[in-house]
Amino acid sequence: MSSEQSITFIAQPGGNLSGEIRVPGDKSISHRSIMLGSLSDGTVTITGFLQGEDSLATLKAFKAMGVDIQGPDEKGKIIIHGVGMHGLKPPAEPLDLGNSGTSMRLLTGLLASQGFDITLTGDDSLSSRPMKRVIDPIQQMGAVIEATEKGTAPLHIKSSKNSRLKAIDYVLPMASAQVKSCVLLAGLYAEGRTCVTEPAPTRDHTERMLQGFGYTLDIKKLDDQRSTICLEGGGKLTACDIDVPSDISSAAFFMVGASIADGSDLTLKHVGINPTRIGIINILNLMGADISLSNEQEVGGEPVADIRIRSARLKGIHIPEDQVPLAIDEFPAIAIAAACAEGRTVLTGAEELRVKESDRIQAMVDGLQILGIDCEGTPDGMIINGGTLGSGTVDSLGDHRIAMSFAMAALRASGEITIKDCANVNTSFPDFIQLAQTCGLKVEA
Ligand code: S3P
Repeated sequence: MSSEQSITFIAQPGGNLSGEIRVPGDKSISHRSIMLGSLSDGTVTITGFLQGEDSLATLKAFKAMGVDIQGPDEKGKIIIHGVGMHGLKPPAEPLDLGNSGTSMRLLTGLLASQGFDITLTGDDSLSSRPMKRVIDPIQQMGAVIEATEKGTAPLHIKSSKNSRLKAIDYVLPMASAQVKSCVLLAGLYAEGRTCVTEPAPTRDHTERMLQGFGYTLDIKKLDDQRSTICLEGGGKLTACDIDVPSDISSAAFFMVGASIADGSDLTLKHVGINPTRIGIINILNLMGADISLSNEQEVGGEPVADIRIRSARLKGIHIPEDQVPLAIDEFPAIAIAAACAEGRTVLTGAEELRVKESDRIQAMVDGLQILGIDCEGTPDGMIINGGTLGSGTVDSLGDHRIAMSFAMAALRASGEITIKDCANVNTSFPDFIQLAQTCGLKVEA
């Protein structure tokens, strides 16, 4: 499968999800492992790396900047010979980051002061996503970045050898781990102490991994929502090995599928359960799901567990807004759970969903309506009345998470669901079809 081709998924109704599977490696951690590994001053072995197009775009970018990276082999093992903080070389061509927002936003910070000019490009979806959110703080630090008039890619980063970035104290205007990480990565190169205050907890893989590489961070909780993360520029990263856990965002489709399909009993092995990522578990539990964790352990600074899900009667809820950043990528799947739940589910405070790989509010509402569900989009969320899923053709809009969510919907549908434009499933979950088939989903590409 390649995202150059047009791919349609066809999912037959019924069945359940059972057995034991391991979903691929965490996308966020895979990206960061390449970035920090490349800048470290030794050899880094990564296991469990996600071989999806997004994380491979990051890998390719660092190879293009002269880093010697071997792998990934079929088990996702990679060896990076780090070049140190100042060892990157100018690439021969612009860095094409495909569909990957994480690559573009984090690299904007990391590459802002390497001493060479660089251009970051992406596909149509990435070229329409907002980049001003990362350009603004990095410009405040003294970087020169040109974007389109709309503040979108391609981004041209102009970096002179003689000017160092200045540290800033930045208050994030939105809860975004990508913006937070961008500023912290730029801060590694800045003169002085860079601080980022986040309005709500967002995934903290950058902070954990920086500390794993021996970088000192000062993290202060301001209240139950806000935190400030500070670091001093000019330090170095000491090589360490990384074991990437399975991605809870990929596990989420199976958690929803097993919850909604009668007779399911599915175990997902070695899934990352970082507290900043477990909104999907918390929300499904509030809806009445049957989820249990076992084998809890810490692997390379990240908590992991096996997650067992059995089918349950779900009920509609008003999703607590404090769970939104903790489940930000899981709302397409949660919308399917809501469509199968008894009563109404209301999502608010999730306007960020409108600027993901697609407008995920519109994409889910349109698709669910085609399948006969009474639902509507709101500026910052959705209202979904649980009902009976019918059959029909829905459009994933080239968004991997929309495609996989509607595939799971077939477990409770009365007829076949056809999902258009699914090639980008490859960005985060290349073996989705095969793995879903092994545990009972009747889906084909
Ligand atoms: C990510 C952060 C989130 C998430 C994205 C991955 C990351 O984006 O949606 O899939 O790895 O930092 P935002 O920071 O825009 O919320």
